[in-house]
Amino acid sequence: MGIEDEIRKAKGRRNALILSHNYQRPEVQDIADYVGDSLELCREARKSGAGLVIFCGVTFMAEAALILTGKDVRMPDLHATCPMAAMLSAEDIRKYKRIHPGATTVIYINSTAEAKTEADVICTSANYEKVIGDAPTDTVLFGPDANMAQRAARICGKKVIAMPADGHCRIHSHLITKTKIGRLKELHPKALVLVHPECVAEVQAMADVVCGTGGMARIARESDRKEFIIGTEEEMCHRLRKENPGKAFYGVGAYCNNMKKTTLEGILRVLNSDNDGRISLDAEIIRKTKPALERMLA
Ligand code: 13P
Ligand code: SF4
Repeated sequence: MGIEDEIRKAKGRRNALILSHNYQRPEVQDIADYVGDSLELCREARKSGAGLVIFCGVTFMAEAALILTGKDVRMPDLHATCPMAAMLSAEDIRKYKRIHPGATTVIYINSTAEAKTEADVICTSANYEKVIGDAPTDTVLFGPDANMAQRAARICGKKVIAMPADGHCRIHSHLITKTKIGRLKELHPKALVLVHPECVAEVQAMADVVCGTGGMARIARESDRKEFIIGTEEEMCHRLRKENPGKAFYGVGAYCNNMKKTTLEGILRVLNSDNDGRISLDAEIIRKTKPALERMLA
């Protein structure tokens, strides 16, 4: 029996749900019950009747699933973290709040659970423009991604203060460059250019659409175009190619090593164990964070 069959058998026995982010290894995406972006994975975790959730992504995503569902949430590798999330602490946010009293605090889901306790509302790449646009104040504190903060300020016409001023994802802001997108545009002049809002402003300016990975999946499906340049983590192209066989997707070759820590062997190990990879959070952190995450889903 191959490892995929062993996983399917163990999954049935444990009544487990396997969730995979769009940046996971192809074989992990292929074994999952659902592949999606940060917002969609939170929704799926909540919707499912399964008591055990195997979360293939990075820790902030699995923590959000735990906070929203209270289920037994496991990660095949607990070292799969998002370095950007570590760029903003709860204490940093409190300092910004003291300087800008009365401002709405919007926290990107790519953040620690402790930082989320300071949020009025939490957002993802799929809804940050709406969440910031709908904020009841003209000044909004936003973090940890400064590229998204700058973009929201341009689009929503609000004063958006980035916390910290230079928070970023190395994959999106250093590996997806103007030169690489320019070269792909020269090679594929008919392609629609989709880039993630975590990319720097000059890369965003080269795109036809700036959107999160859920938006990319929808546009690829609905568009009449046959070719797409994909300005996000490379493995997104696996899902896009699988779902759109007649279309071509050109990635930039930017890989998130944390997203690659999850393997089939790791999935099987946590499925066969009672405690391995369990996500746990302080009850007080869950209590303080849940309302802001609920507002994100609403
Ligand atoms: P999405 O929510 O767009 O999938 O983004 C998550 C992420 O980590 C981007 O780097
Ligand atoms: Fe974090 Fe960037 Fe990896 Fe997304 S791609 S999980 S933002 S390091």
